[in-house]
Amino acid sequence: MQPKFSPLTPKFPHLLHGGDYNPEQWLDHPEILDQDIALFQKAHINCVSLGIFSWANLEPQQDYFTFDWLDRIIDQLYQNGIYTILATPSGARPQWLAQKYPEVLRVNADGTKNLFGARHNHCYTSPAYRERVRIIDTRLAERYANHPAVILWHISNEFGGECHCELCQVAFRTWVQKKYGTLDALNRAWWAHFWSHTYTDWSQIHSPSPLGETSIHGLVLDWRRFVTQQTIDFMRTEIDAVKAVNSDIPVTTNMMTHYTYELNYYKFRDALDVISWDNYPEWHKPNSQIWAAESCSMTHDMMRSIQKKPFLMMECTPNTTNWHPVSKLKKPGMHKLSVLNAIAHGADSGQYFQLRQSRGSCEKFHSAVISHIGTEHTRTFREVAQVGAELERLSDLIYNSRTPVQVAIIHDVENKWALDQCRGPRNAGIDYFGAVQNNYRYFWENGINIDLVDSEYDLDGYRLVIVPMLYLFRAGIQEKLRQFVAQGGTLVTTCFTGVVDENDLCFLGEATEEKLSDVMGFWVEEIDGLFDGEENHMTWQNQRYRLYELCEIVHPTTCEVLATYESDFYQDMPALTRNRFGKGVAYHLCATAESRFFLDFYDMLTRQLGLERAMQTTVPYGVSLTWRETAQGQKLIFAQNFSAETKHLPLDQAYTDLLNDTTEHGICTLAPYTCKIVTPQQYS
Ligand code: GLA
Ligand code: ZN
Repeated sequence: MQPKFSPLTPKFPHLLHGGDYNPEQWLDHPEILDQDIALFQKAHINCVSLGIFSWANLEPQQDYFTFDWLDRIIDQLYQNGIYTILATPSGARPQWLAQKYPEVLRVNADGTKNLFGARHNHCYTSPAYRERVRIIDTRLAERYANHPAVILWHISNEFGGECHCELCQVAFRTWVQKKYGTLDALNRAWWAHFWSHTYTDWSQIHSPSPLGETSIHGLVLDWRRFVTQQTIDFMRTEIDAVKAVNSDIPVTTNMMTHYTYELNYYKFRDALDVISWDNYPEWHKPNSQIWAAESCSMTHDMMRSIQKKPFLMMECTPNTTNWHPVSKLKKPGMHKLSVLNAIAHGADSGQYFQLRQSRGSCEKFHSAVISHIGTEHTRTFREVAQVGAELERLSDLIYNSRTPVQVAIIHDVENKWALDQCRGPRNAGIDYFGAVQNNYRYFWENGINIDLVDSEYDLDGYRLVIVPMLYLFRAGIQEKLRQFVAQGGTLVTTCFTGVVDENDLCFLGEATEEKLSDVMGFWVEEIDGLFDGEENHMTWQNQRYRLYELCEIVHPTTCEVLATYESDFYQDMPALTRNRFGKGVAYHLCATAESRFFLDFYDMLTRQLGLERAMQTTVPYGVSLTWRETAQGQKLIFAQNFSAETKHLPLDQAYTDLLNDTTEHGICTLAPYTCKIVTPQQYS
């Protein structure tokens, strides 16, 4: 059988182990550079990311380029078996550039203009910035895109933020005008007659500002869409520049965790050859270690789902960051576990920020594979080296294997933007991320692979689709969900779903197809916001569950009522419903419910649907099982213990432990912060 996906690059079709390397900080210490390469080899580093913040060293004056230092480093690394991921340097610009072209610096939402400083401080629209970036990117590509060492382009660094300068205002107006065509259509879509905000000229359109307009929700939503689009447009100019020289080198850009929800990363899927992201959970925080593991696993799943294929973990810290509120050291074992966690969820790499620790400036206390001590005699180095050796050993088996999935959560960034500004029913907080994670938890705890896709993805191949709090229905989602259920799928929705259309305008009417009322079998009359600490309850299958935050009051049309509210004036009205539609079934939870409900509910559905698990077993709390499948159909199961206690995992058959070459049967013992990779014995 052929691998399902072609390898990212034929030059080096293996799991990557490496990270960000900033030799430009050490050019006057050649002995350190030599020493680094020797240490990289000891740590089984097979690739480094170079040039991310090197612009001032590559072009110290306008149109005067100095590549000789980079030539030497790329060559020297390659001679020692280490490949290069080459960055375009647009994430931070030289002083001379900002001085000569002040338009490149960002303007904030309140109209203030930034001074030179920090990084990521640039306008994505500025023609001067785009042109300078195009020139340096082209020069880099001409020099290195055909070098045998260069395997991947790392476009810029952590795209993010927005600019409100006049150039961006013009670009936004043009985008809006193209989208709506007429002012009449715009005023209707944005509901601008409200408060007399009617637009009578395109030039009146201005980005949302704390000093100006934020009351028009359609404007705010479209601004966020524009920022994503403009960022991608900027990124595409960089991609075009490097691909024009050699289109065979794949491109990526390093994304951040989805907490910020600044950009809609799902929109990046067609522009990039591979998705990569930077993963910095707060490990070992009291009472949230398992939560951290769960939420970063969820982000890994999201990143894999964007292109539905293996991704790269472009950065994680070898030990501690310097920017979390507290710089907690990773306890022994945690580093390897966190890298294997990424691989378990579909990553084909373990890469770090950073390989050598800075001596000065604001990241000098961020950990690195090689610390200020400068040797291999550190705990961090030893753990990194061990991870490298193990990835090297398992690369042939794991690399490019796929993640079989039968369940998807619809996780929609545009929905998050709309919820953030919705003004009611609970301005004290509606936790969308929490709603998604509450639905995710059961699958993470019970060894069931799961995708996180957005409203634009097709639902083919899924047996169960979960739609938590999808307040904003983008055009087409209704028909997709209707078809999914009609054809035999199981759909679960939760409260405050299907309230507004893609312009953030409320659906009108009692029970309408726009709101999916036919599929759900009820209509919603009103929704109650609960104060913090206030509760209602429902009892389902003899268990009583706490409800909080939001309680919808719904009227059944065709649905069955599985549970009702216990108190308040809506006592005995539906809290949980089920509707058979076509060949499938649609469940709806009318309120925000405690986590325990989701665990019991999805246990019922998993059994009913016979969803595939990593193993047929009871997984102890704190342990997560995930699996990948090789092209030959071999199941690779990652058993990860994120807790501080030894856990005992009952096995349903004999397995081979691939890291230790031993047989596991009966009970598998997992020490604190460890991961075992096992495969059913018939394959070994
Ligand atoms: C980000 C950046 C890196 C570095 C790390 C520190 O991910 O991409 O350059 O600043 O954070 O954790
Ligand atoms: Zn701008």
